[in-house]
Parts: sequence; structure tokens; C-alpha cells
Amino acid sequence: MTGAPKTLDRALAGRSAEGWERRLYLAAHPFAYPLLRGLARRGPAVRVPGVGVVVNDAGLARRILMDGETFRKDGPGSPGDLWTPVLGPSVLLNMEGEAHRALRRRLTELFTPSYTDALCARVLAGPLDRLAGRLARGADVDLVDTTRVLAGAVMSEVIGLETGQGAEAEAAYRRLFEQGERIVSMISLRTRRLSPAQIRRARAVLDPLGDIAAKAYAAGGDTTVMGRMRELGLSEAEARGAAGAFFLTGTETVATLVPRLVALLHDTGRLDGPATARTGRLDRLIDEAMRVTTPTPVMLRSVHRDADLDGVAARPGDRILIATHNCCRAYGPFDPDRAHPPELRRLWFGAGPHFCIGYPLAMAETRAVVRTVLDAAPLTITGRAAARGVLIPTYARLMVRSA
Ligand code: HEM
Repeated sequence: MTGAPKTLDRALAGRSAEGWERRLYLAAHPFAYPLLRGLARRGPAVRVPGVGVVVNDAGLARRILMDGETFRKDGPGSPGDLWTPVLGPSVLLNMEGEAHRALRRRLTELFTPSYTDALCARVLAGPLDRLAGRLARGADVDLVDTTRVLAGAVMSEVIGLETGQGAEAEAAYRRLFEQGERIVSMISLRTRRLSPAQIRRARAVLDPLGDIAAKAYAAGGDTTVMGRMRELGLSEAEARGAAGAFFLTGTETVATLVPRLVALLHDTGRLDGPATARTGRLDRLIDEAMRVTTPTPVMLRSVHRDADLDGVAARPGDRILIATHNCCRAYGPFDPDRAHPPELRRLWFGAGPHFCIGYPLAMAETRAVVRTVLDAAPLTITGRAAARGVLIPTYARLMVRSA
């Protein structure tokens, strides 16, 4: 085939990829998404009554994220208000200053790349073998359900949940995933606080999980994540809180990314041969898919002292909504050959003091699953549907088959 038709094919396919990603966002946020995207055209920062100052520029977003004194996640009116009632006061994502730095320091060793690679290899070996077998047999596989189970398996290991074997374990992983999803779906892009009924529902899930985590913590040892937290000097309350925070932030984010990444590769003509798997460009594919999908589409801060945000004056008490999705989408459609400039670098995992502590785990998990799927290429998508009523846009179903 000559270069020109291939380029044209890719351009047309790229349009379909853009179309599906947009459809996912619209199914999840039919009203907020068009508004959010519309704001991207109004400059790096724009004040929106009832919402706060919306930030659309990667450079400005990074400046805000790096300045934890001016732009904070704790105190009245901050995003901490959302999670403190269900997770407790000291769970990283609602902390600032010295207390936050001290807890982060103690957790530095928790998710090292070598530890997370080994954890994923151990936990996912069986399920990924089964996935590879189903794809090799030419079965239709729903990647949405598959990655929910896999993400549930990893999170069960992190918390210390005992799940039995085979189908029984799979049902437990699925249940764990659904419990997290129910809590996360209480949040919309405008939510500032949970209602007392929502707090009760969230605690009904998180308290028993905290008890399980506390049991693994009490058992100690360096083979479990909770045991390692004890060895790293965390108190039981800190370890319980960390388990809840990991569960809420680290399950759906990873699980929703994988089907979207596979769909992006398919829709841009990059899943039509086994070559994709051999290119050694896995991290580049994953980074670029994260940039386009931004599993955490916004980040929140509250302003604690006067600041100039590229011409917009921010005052103490103002709420900042960093539209990570707008910041990242400003660099164009999905293209794994695109270099990411310094201001963009992994912005989808945050930046500065709150940079995602689960980053090595998220990458290890994603690499393991995507590698298994790509090994079965060429793949075709045989059916798909967008999910509604979710915080993180995703597919409700993505059926793939080895072609
Ligand atoms: C694709 C997967 C993931 C994405 C896109 C993601 C994204 C993010 C982002 C953007 C932040 C910073 C938020 C802010 O500054 O306001 C963050 C923080 C955090 N993430 Fe992740 N995350 C992912 C997976 C995980 C996993 C697997 C875990 C844990 C097992 C995790 C645990 C956390 C925690 C505890 C924080 C708070 C850190 C702090 O405040 O110091 N995340 N994540």
C-alpha cells in the first residue's frame, strides 16, 4: 500500500476515534462537558460564576499545582471537604504542608516500580493467561468487564481482601469494583460536599474495607501492602485512611483507561497487526492515551492568598477548577508520535506535592493488561456502548475479537 492512502485511512479513522471519545464524555456529562469544552476557548483562566476559576492551560495548571501554599486541598471550601467526612482527616488528598510532606515521605517506598511490577505479575498472571486464551480462541471478549475484574484484583491485593479462588474470586473483584463505582458516581463535576445520606452510604462500604485493611496491617510483614505500611511507620488510622484513598482513586481510573486506549488504537488503525505489540513503544502509547482521555478530568484547589492567574485575579476563598482535560486536549488528537512538551509531562497524574502516589502501580497494571491485549492483535471491535451516569467517562461495553 502507498503512504498516501494509509495516511488518509488514518485521518478518517482518527475522526472516528475523536467521535467516540467525545461520545463517552457526553454520555457521562451531557451538560457539563459541552460547557467545559466551550470554556477552553476563553483563555488560560476564566472565572465562571458558581464554579470558580477554570484553568485551561497546562503551563498555568502546573504552576498552580506546584504552589501548595497558595493553592490548597485542605481547609474550609477546599476539595478536602468532599472526602474528609468519609475517609478521615489525614488521607493525603485532603492534607497540606508539613503533615502532608511527612506522610508522603513515609509512603515513598510503598509503590516502587519494582514492587508494583512484581505485585501485578503475581496477581494478574492467572487472569491475564485466561484473557490471552480467550482471545487466542477467537472469543468475543468484553474488555470493560475484563479490566474491572483485573483492577478489582489488584485493589483487593492492596487492601488485603481475601477472595478465594477462580469464579468466587472473580465475583469478589467485580463486587469490589462496583462498590467503588457507586461511591465515585455520587460525585459530579459540580459537587462540593456529599449529603449526610451519601456519607452514610459511602461509609457503609469504606468502614468494612477499612476493617479488612486494619487486619492486614495488624498481621504486618513485608509481603502485603498493608503490612508494608506498618513497617514504613504509618499508624493504623493512617494505613486505614490510605487504603480507602487508594481504593477510591486507584480502581476506576485504571480500569476505564484500558478499554479506551484499545479503542483509540483500533480507531486510528493501529490495532491491525501484531507489530504494535513489538514496537517497544508501550509507554508512549499509554502516555498519549492518558493525555487524550484524562481519566481524572479535573483537579480542585482552594485559594489561600492573592494570586494572578494569567490576568485573572484569584482571591482567598476562591475555588480553582483545573480542567486537566482542556489543558491536555489543547495539544491535538491522539497521536503516539507526538512529543509531550515539558509543561504537559504526565499532567494527567497531577504535578508537585500531590502528584499521584499510585503512578507506578497504575502504569504496571496498565502495561500488563495492554501488553496481553496487543499480543492478540490484529483485533477488531465487534460491539461497544458508552457508559451513562459515571464520573469518569468510559465504555459500558467494548467487545473485541482477535481477527
Ligand atoms: C490511570 C490511573 C490514575 C490516574 C489518571 C490518577 C490521577 C491522579 C491525579 C491527577 C492525582 C492528583 C490530584 C490532585 O492533585 O488534585 C492523583 C493523586 C492520587 N492518586 Fe492517582 N491516579 C491513577 C491511579 C492511582 C492508583 C492506582 C492509586 C493507588 C493505588 C492512586 C492513588 C492516588 C492518591 C492516594 C492520590 C493523592 C496523593 C496526594 O494527595 O498526595 N492513583 N491521582
